[in-house]
Amino acid sequence: MSAMIEVTDLTKWYGPTLALDRASFTVEEGQIVGFLGPNGAGKSTTLRILTGFLPATSGQACVAGHDVLTDSLAVRRSIGYMPENVPLYTEMRVDEYLRFRAGLKDVPASKRREAVDRTVQRCWLTDVRRRLIGQLSKGYRQRVGLAEALVADPPVLILDEPTIGLDPAQIQAVRELIRSLAGKHTVLLSSHMLHEVERTCSRVVIIAEGRIAASGTFDELRENLADRQRVVLEVHPGDGGGGPAEIARAFAQVAGAGDVTHKNLGEGWLCVHVNPAGNADPREGLYSMVAKRGWRLREMRSEVPSLEELYVRITAGEAADADRPAA
Ligand SMILES: Nc1ncnc2c1ncn2[C@@H]1O[C@H](COP(=O)(O)OP(=O)(O)O)[C@@H](O)[C@H]1O
Ligand SMILES: [Mg+2]
Repeated sequence: MSAMIEVTDLTKWYGPTLALDRASFTVEEGQIVGFLGPNGAGKSTTLRILTGFLPATSGQACVAGHDVLTDSLAVRRSIGYMPENVPLYTEMRVDEYLRFRAGLKDVPASKRREAVDRTVQRCWLTDVRRRLIGQLSKGYRQRVGLAEALVADPPVLILDEPTIGLDPAQIQAVRELIRSLAGKHTVLLSSHMLHEVERTCSRVVIIAEGRIAASGTFDELRENLADRQRVVLEVHPGDGGGGPAEIARAFAQVAGAGDVTHKNLGEGWLCVHVNPAGNADPREGLYSMVAKRGWRLREMRSEVPSLEELYVRITAGEAADADRPAA
């Protein structure tokens, strides 16, 4: 397998706004990779740079072995791009539009009919192929956008939030279509929803505030999470006293403890969550603290956070200072 998309130290400033901060990642041939991150993370910016619509401030991006800056024509020929807001010619009929776009993408005239027929079928547009695009529902227009990206049968597809604004049945259909592209095409699709990417993609690249926070297969991400076990304790100050806030503060000072949260369980019992700082293991220190203060302890266990939790933490910037899984 070779890298079909290669992004190295990509940086983009919009005036004073740093939208991309030395982002690096690769997408191997034939894979479907999710580009996951909250709104404003820098997804669309990255995809626009990859498709040659926007120059980067610094760094490098290559698609199918071509540099997007110096070889943009070859890059555009290798890519089918579905932007965030699909620009469509509302006064054209679906098949006219696809034929027109196929022409612009250098599909030879003799092959255009076949290309349009194949794409219409692939994108479930057969029923509406003679309709005016302006009269189609959002879901159908989205599919026309996808069909446009596919019509010249490019090796690489770059899809920016392809299911946004669709209803559940339409989302299902678009997901199925994207999954059916695996192997034959290399796909990079952006989304702000983890479950979206989990269902469609084999790998994920997580971006937050312009930086790549994690990447890998879902199994790899889970394995990395296993090193980041959170310690859960149930303690009671006993006769030694000390309020909940004081207990939480004491735990936070233990070597290897990162952020600490707590909640009251009633009758003086407190449930405390201690996230480790980086890959540290604070368990022994936590137990020593309990013993030293003479608190009562009825539970101490380790918990692996879920991917969803990790994503929320990255999104909230909480993982920013912690050790990041899988570079
Ligand atoms: N044309 C632009 N001019 C100025 N700032 C922009 C422009 N486009 C995007 N940004 C800013 O860059 C950051 C990344 O935006 P974007 O790439 O659209 O993120 P995403 O697609 O992940 O929501 C945001 O802070 C956004 O406000
Ligand atoms: Mg976007």
